[in-house]
Amino acid sequence: MKASRVASPPLPEACDEVLLSEERITLRVLELGKALTQDYQGRDLRLVTVLRGGLFFLADLARAVDVPVQLDFMAVSPYAPGRGGVVRVTKDLDDDITGASVVLVEDVVDTGLTVNYVLSLLRARDPRSLEVCALLDKDVRRIADVPIAHRGFRIPDRFVVGYGLDLRGRYRNLPYVATLSEDALERR
Ligand code: PRP
Repeated sequence: MKASRVASPPLPEACDEVLLSEERITLRVLELGKALTQDYQGRDLRLVTVLRGGLFFLADLARAVDVPVQLDFMAVSPYAPGRGGVVRVTKDLDDDITGASVVLVEDVVDTGLTVNYVLSLLRARDPRSLEVCALLDKDVRRIADVPIAHRGFRIPDRFVVGYGLDLRGRYRNLPYVATLSEDALERR
C-alpha cells in the first residue's frame, strides 16, 4: 500500500512553485492506467522506460494498469555534450521485444530527440506494437516530431524538477513537479 503523507514535503529553496501537485499527478496517472488497460485488453503489456527520469512514473503507471505487465529498462547518454539527438545506449533492454506490445514510458518529452532515437531502436526489433506514454509534454521545445499516444500534461517551457526529473541528480524524489527559480537556474 502506498504510504500516506499528511502533506507534501516543503518546496526546496531552488524551486519557486509547484506546477503539478502530488494529487493531480496521482489522478492523472490513474486515468492513464485506465486508458492503457482498455487499449491493451487481452494482451500482455511491456512497459519500457529510459533511466533514470522515467522510473517514478513507470512505477506508478504499472500499478495503475490492470493487464499483465512486464517492465524493462534502457539507459542512453549523449554522445557528445551539446550535440542533442546523437545518443548512445549505455544499458540495453534485458528482454527481447519481438512480437511484444510495447509502451515506451517517459517522464518528459522535450525536444523529442531522445524518444525519437529510442523509438527507432525499438521499432527495428519488430514489436507487435509500439506507443509512447509521456507524463509531461513540453511541446513548445519540440525539434523531432514524436507520436505521443498517451500524455499526462502539456507544460510550458520551464525547467522543472520532481517526480523523476532532476537538477544535477537532485530533486527526483519530490512527489510533485515544481519549477526551478530564476536564481537556481542562473547558478546551475
Ligand atoms: C530526460 C527525459 C528524457 C529526455 C527528454 O532525460 O527523461 O529521456 O530528457 O529530452 P528530449 O526530448 O529533449 O530528448 P535526461 O537526459 O534528463 O536524463 P535522466 O532521465 O537521467 O534525468
